[in-house]
Amino acid sequence: MEKIVSLCKRRGFIFQSSEIYGGLNGFWDYGPLGAELKRNIKESWWRSMSQLRDDVVGLEASIIMHPRIWEASGHTSTFSDLMVDCLLTKKRFRADQIEPQSGTAYFYAGATSHSGDKECADPFSVLIPFGKPPESARRVALEFYHQRGLGNPAQLLGERAERIEKTTRYNPENGSLLTDPRPFNLMLKTYVGPVESADNVSYLRPETAQAIFAQFKNVLEVSRQRTPFGICQIGKAFRNEINPRNFTFRSREFEQMELEFFIRPDEAVEAICGSVARPAGPGHPGEPQPNWGWQLWHQYWVEERLRYYENIGLPRASLVEYWQKPEELAHYARATVDLLYKFPFSKRDEQGELTGEELEGIAARSDFDLSQHQRFSGKAMTVFDEELKAAWPRLDEPKRAELSQRYFEARSRYLGKVGEPAETAEKLARKDVELLGKGYYVPHVIEPSAGVDRLALALICNAYCEDQAPDEKGKMETRVVMRFHPRIAPIKVAVFPLLKNKPDLVKKAKAVRDLLRPHMSVFYDEAGAIGRRYRRQDEAGTPFGVTIDFDTLGEKGPALQDTVTLRDRDSMKQDRVKIGDLEPILLEKIR
Ligand code: GAP
Repeated sequence: MEKIVSLCKRRGFIFQSSEIYGGLNGFWDYGPLGAELKRNIKESWWRSMSQLRDDVVGLEASIIMHPRIWEASGHTSTFSDLMVDCLLTKKRFRADQIEPQSGTAYFYAGATSHSGDKECADPFSVLIPFGKPPESARRVALEFYHQRGLGNPAQLLGERAERIEKTTRYNPENGSLLTDPRPFNLMLKTYVGPVESADNVSYLRPETAQAIFAQFKNVLEVSRQRTPFGICQIGKAFRNEINPRNFTFRSREFEQMELEFFIRPDEAVEAICGSVARPAGPGHPGEPQPNWGWQLWHQYWVEERLRYYENIGLPRASLVEYWQKPEELAHYARATVDLLYKFPFSKRDEQGELTGEELEGIAARSDFDLSQHQRFSGKAMTVFDEELKAAWPRLDEPKRAELSQRYFEARSRYLGKVGEPAETAEKLARKDVELLGKGYYVPHVIEPSAGVDRLALALICNAYCEDQAPDEKGKMETRVVMRFHPRIAPIKVAVFPLLKNKPDLVKKAKAVRDLLRPHMSVFYDEAGAIGRRYRRQDEAGTPFGVTIDFDTLGEKGPALQDTVTLRDRDSMKQDRVKIGDLEPILLEKIR
């Protein structure tokens, strides 16, 4: 990973934010190559999620929204991580990131100052590895009581030792006791307007998804879509992460690419189609069908997203499909699949295999989100479904009763979980059933939610490669090459005149650059030996290099005139191609 981080800085993919002031933990800037890479990621995502589909439209919402949105979504009350502080250094950790440790814990009931005139009765303890002398624990404890005003040396009171296995109660860096875990809300707070009062508190959004739910009705109206359909958005999100780490993997400012795909509740599908199709097995279920319920839509989006990653160069073997266990699921989620990438810093399993870290989550979120905004805003989030209205009266009575009962149970369950009193929940759920019979329901949602920065990091890790290539004199040397897929590579093609002091070569090379520029990102380079220029582009991950030489000028006769060499970064093979053919050849490879 160190080599990758250093290349990112050296070649201008990623810089530390505010570096000249010592940096700001959890914030990153993208340099020229990183900015192009991120743009390509976002464009490829948008293209696959919206541009190439009839059933997904886009949204670009504000980052700061009405604070009630975060009450409805649950972020104000529950969007928190448990954190612990080191009692000695005050360093903060996420409780779930403390690795279990075993050792001897030394407990102290308090301490008195050397002269005996001051006393501190705060209990404290220190964990040290088995076999280490107790002095090392005492040193840490003395520092703790010193900080409480006892001076050093002090007299430790009531020392007691105990063997402890697999505890997460101690700072792994110094053995000091940690505070009890406390929830810490991850939303970044700000004030809207000139007055810093509780009434003006607002938040930088911690996810882009909620804006999609809040604008659901507006988008539905103007786009003339019907369920199933989706709304997608790319944008910044902010989380005051307790422990940003692993380079850009866990940042405090990052970008998300989220789709909310709205579907009929299964009861509506069954009323219209007679039954709900179930997954026939693993893999892509094929073209969407009207009889799909949430399970098949969920499976469809998991497979679509895997295809997307493969399409931009992440091999299937580098990805892990992790199905969250029932106890890990949010209370409203029916299923969530995390797509993990095997980052070099991922943990290893017992077989030594990288286990992977989350790139994207694909959640079947039921009708929770829109229902919450309906409750909190008082605005109906239901859609009218003509086909359901027509189908409902045609159902026989037992079927109607069965579907009504199932829908009633699902709606009462949701209303109960969000705290409606039993009587109100029952009344509201009965009303929902009545509405269903008239063709109205709150859509369910499947949410594929990905991070741009995590994907950029995965693509960088995946691309990094060292191989052997001949230098100027034909001697083999180590070459660092970023094997980005041409679709995602920051620069698509580099154009080189063989020599920079030959005006005819330079003029022709600039003409080739100008020919290609409107269609793709081109880098023109005339500085240094051609071999070194190739190496620079290999490190930048540029998949193709075009060299203009004397043959291009017609020095070996008309057959080679206006042809160039086209070099492939990975095989280093060079083909002679006509200038006129360059654009279609390259476009085919980068699209
Ligand atoms: N709307 C659902 C949602 O936000 P999430 O799993 O919290 O779900 C979705 O976030 C994606 O956003 C993650 O899979 C990850 O790619 C990205 N992400 C989340 N927190 C991040 C962070 N602190 N730094 C970088 N990316 C992050």
